[in-house]
Amino acid sequence: MTAAISVRGLRKSFGSLVVLDGLDLAVPEGSVFALLGPNGAGKTTTVDILSTLTPADAGEARIAGHDVRREPDAVRASIALTGQFSAVDNLLTGAENLRLMADLLHLDRRTGRARAAALLERFDLGEAASTSPVTYSGGMRRKLDLAMGLMGDPRIVFLDEPTTGLDPRSRRAMWDAVRDLVADGVTILLTTQYLDEADELADRIGVLDGGRLVAEGTSDELKRTVPGGHVRLQFTAAPDLEEAARVLGVPVADRAALALEVPGDGSVAALKALLARLDDARLDVAGLSLHTPDLDDVFLALTGRPAAEEVPS
Ligand SMILES: Nc1ncnc2c1ncn2[C@@H]1O[C@H](COP(=O)(O)OP(=O)(O)OP(=O)(O)O)[C@@H](O)[C@H]1O
Ligand SMILES: [Mg+2]
Repeated sequence: MTAAISVRGLRKSFGSLVVLDGLDLAVPEGSVFALLGPNGAGKTTTVDILSTLTPADAGEARIAGHDVRREPDAVRASIALTGQFSAVDNLLTGAENLRLMADLLHLDRRTGRARAAALLERFDLGEAASTSPVTYSGGMRRKLDLAMGLMGDPRIVFLDEPTTGLDPRSRRAMWDAVRDLVADGVTILLTTQYLDEADELADRIGVLDGGRLVAEGTSDELKRTVPGGHVRLQFTAAPDLEEAARVLGVPVADRAALALEVPGDGSVAALKALLARLDDARLDVAGLSLHTPDLDDVFLALTGRPAAEEVPS
């Protein structure tokens, strides 16, 4: 498999602040890679270097086979970048913004118009086409920004926090747009602080911390790296709790809540066996809940910090 994006030993400092400390990364063609990391981890810096906006101090990065340092024009011709801060021009209408891109890209008039119309339709921006982005919602701006990037028909798209600040409906619209691109064979590198977003969209996820990827893999692989799957059992009286702890051979997790936690994968077979043991001991369970580790647990385990607040969906 050809790597659409390959990065080796990338370093970048701002003054004495080391932001990237030997970053390695490989993203196969036609896949989605999510770069996850807390504020200030270097996500935007990475995207800026890969899209030729910022030079790295050391290391090598190739985009669609082109070296970002030696062949910046070829790199720019194969990518689209939609940033954390939108590039939309408020003095132009939506359609004019797209036409401006067509001119910048030297598309002929027919191709430019056809692409603009198709993108306005795809992103459901038809009505917005004739008005200024000043009047758009945040979600509409993001979509127009992405549409502008797609005017050049790029094979590789960088999305820097594409859904931060969007409401659940706009987030889903953006996710659908990403899936459409992937279906067309486009390679996507996205940065996010939302673990559910990485879970939804990404083939592989990298957790950036301390200037390097501290973990990399599929969502399932990352979840397997952290312990934490358990069944939480709740009882109605303290003696039952104590007896259950003895029978199951686990410590009492939460005496005040009359609860214990039994490590396990939460499979039906394991649950049945667990309940049978309690039944044999004539112990009544008042409540039962399952906890399977999610990417939040991974993030916390790897970086020592909880992830950003999830937006309600
Ligand atoms: N031009 C610059 N000059 C000095 N410091 C910078 C510059 N750009 C970024 N930094 C610093 O580099 C670090 C990484 O910034 P970066 O924007 O890459 O983080 P990020 O992971 O994108 O964070 P966020 O989640 O907040 O967007 C931060 O500490 C930031 O203050
Ligand atoms: Mg950023």
